[in-house]
Amino acid sequence: MKKITDRIKEKPWLGWVLFGATILVVFIIGLFVSTIMERRGETYQLQQVGKPIGEWEPRLEVWGENFPRQYETYMKTSDTTFASKYLGSGKIDLLEQNPKYVILWAGFAFSRDYGQARGHYYAITDVINSLRTVQPQPSTCWTCKSSDVPRLMNEMGIDSFYRTPLKDLGHEVVNPIGCLDCHDPKTMNLRLSRPAIIEAYQRQGIDPKNFSHQEMKSQVCAQCHSEYYFKGPGRYLVFPWDEGFTVEQMEKFYDDAEHTDWVHALSRAPMLKSQHPDYEIYKLGIHGKRGVACADCHMPYKTEGAVKFTDHHIQSPLSKIDRSCQVCHRESEETLRQNVYSLQDKVKELAKISEEALVKAHLEAKYAWDNGATEAMMKPVLTLIRHSQWRSDFVTSSLGAAFHAPSECLRILGTSIDKAQEARLELANVFAQLKVKKPVIDLANLTKAKAQEMIGLNMEQIRSDKNEFLKNVLPVWEKKAAERQAKMNY
Ligand code: HEC
Ligand code: HEC
Ligand code: HEC
Ligand code: HEC
Repeated sequence: MKKITDRIKEKPWLGWVLFGATILVVFIIGLFVSTIMERRGETYQLQQVGKPIGEWEPRLEVWGENFPRQYETYMKTSDTTFASKYLGSGKIDLLEQNPKYVILWAGFAFSRDYGQARGHYYAITDVINSLRTVQPQPSTCWTCKSSDVPRLMNEMGIDSFYRTPLKDLGHEVVNPIGCLDCHDPKTMNLRLSRPAIIEAYQRQGIDPKNFSHQEMKSQVCAQCHSEYYFKGPGRYLVFPWDEGFTVEQMEKFYDDAEHTDWVHALSRAPMLKSQHPDYEIYKLGIHGKRGVACADCHMPYKTEGAVKFTDHHIQSPLSKIDRSCQVCHRESEETLRQNVYSLQDKVKELAKISEEALVKAHLEAKYAWDNGATEAMMKPVLTLIRHSQWRSDFVTSSLGAAFHAPSECLRILGTSIDKAQEARLELANVFAQLKVKKPVIDLANLTKAKAQEMIGLNMEQIRSDKNEFLKNVLPVWEKKAAERQAKMNY
């Protein structure tokens, strides 16, 4: 076959034909793109012709009048049916599933109750029903649960919002996480509505207004799916990002601030409780590094007739592999699903080793105290336990981490195991000094109930206190909420 350049040399007009054809093709593609853009613009405008939405409008159904598709798909977060190998939208008792957690969190409210995350629709219900909220908690706990929060912070001031006891605002916090949490009601642009994330960026000299649209598709999630702590007696919500986003940098932040979430009831170690650092871990994975946003996987596009819109049914992307992963990957659904499971299997395997070593370290430390160990002997042990469990928790409290950044998770768990075993070596020294034999610890038949008894929790009492609370407080909240609703103008 002759090369095309040779043919053009023979027939010069062929060059012009090719040139013209190219121009035509480019023109037609341009036309296509512009009609597609217009179409999206049109549907957008059609929807926005509806009523203007108030500045602090928390009610999802009011936004839904203008944006029915986004609203209807968002309300599907109430569907609890999806389940994958390890995760899903159902109610799963994670303490039942892994009773070691009870011992790891002895002395902290998480040892009473810890469930699998469900859809956004349930955020308020799950806080109200949690046995963790039998203890008095601040309104800081409401921060990530409701689209009433931006309005309340505006009315009350941020500081006094956090300070107010959780039970005093129950009648105000009635709409679940919703449109106002991620969107500007005037322009529908994505925006940050929570002060903790904005303040964290400002301390680093970053102006969140400069984030691109693609970045905002993760930043809106990072408002809540991040590590945090309650600072000082005012229980002010703070993201510990000043040193950076890695597990070591946040550990340094907490150590320098001498922050302790609680003192462990068995080992007396000054503990840190990691809280779902989903965003921080995601940043370290390949998708985060390639700029794939949370919403690209968790909120893929959906088509209805000629309209393409964002599926607001936020849940595991394994429930819609065809629209999430397969937009970028050509492998079959089954292959992609197995890719996810095999990464999760590996992270689980190391998490189990680290948790077992930590449980033993806590129980051995208690045994050392019981046999007369001194503060000085125990200090290095307790610091190692603190750092080991912080790392283990960092990985497991972020439910999606095993897929979001598998090698980072395995690295962190490796250091966690190392520190837990080092703590146990130190304990062996303590036992030698005390002239006692190291205790035999058998975790084979541990159940949630046994573990809770072991750490001295009276679950019957806690459950009856909860029922009492629900019986007395809920009707008052409902009555006050109805009265307030009648007068509200957002
Ligand atoms: C957790 C954050 C979040 C919540 C809550 C949320 N959205 Fe969105 N919304 C997004 C993201 C992310 C996009 C996608 C932007 C993109 O891909 O360009 C989006 C896109 C949109 C768009 C643009 C058109 C489209 O479909 O892409 C509209 C309109 C919209 N959302 C309406 C709503 C309404 C109404 C609600 C409440 C029922 C809501 N959103 C709740 C994050 C959210
Ligand atoms: C205002 C706080 C807030 C924002 C913003 C937010 N989330 Fe959530 N998210 C939560 C809470 C709280 C839960 C757990 C609710 C429960 O278990 O009752 C949750 C649960 C989830 C779940 C588990 C759902 C299931 O069915 O398994 C996923 C997945 C999720 N969020 C992803 C996202 C993504 C992606 C974004 C950004 C587009 C986002 N979230 C934005 C607070 C938030
Ligand atoms: C918007 C595009 C996009 C989406 C959506 C996406 N990926 Fe990826 N994925 C990538 C890119 C880019 C890489 C990195 C490949 C490279 O740069 O060589 C990657 C890498 C991977 C890898 C290899 C990871 C590693 O550490 O080597 C796996 C496995 C994977 N993706 C699975 C999935 C699954 C499962 C989903 C759906 C839940 C998904 N991806 C969704 C773009 C995407
Ligand atoms: C490349 C695709 C991808 C990206 C990007 C991504 N995720 Fe995930 N996410 C997944 C997969 C896959 C799972 C595991 C789901 C399963 O096992 O059912 C998951 C799990 C989760 C879970 C637990 C879900 C459950 O059912 O309990 C949460 C929460 C979550 N991701 C939030 C986020 C947030 C927040 C971001 C951005 C900071 C993000 N994800 C970015 C694919 C992604």
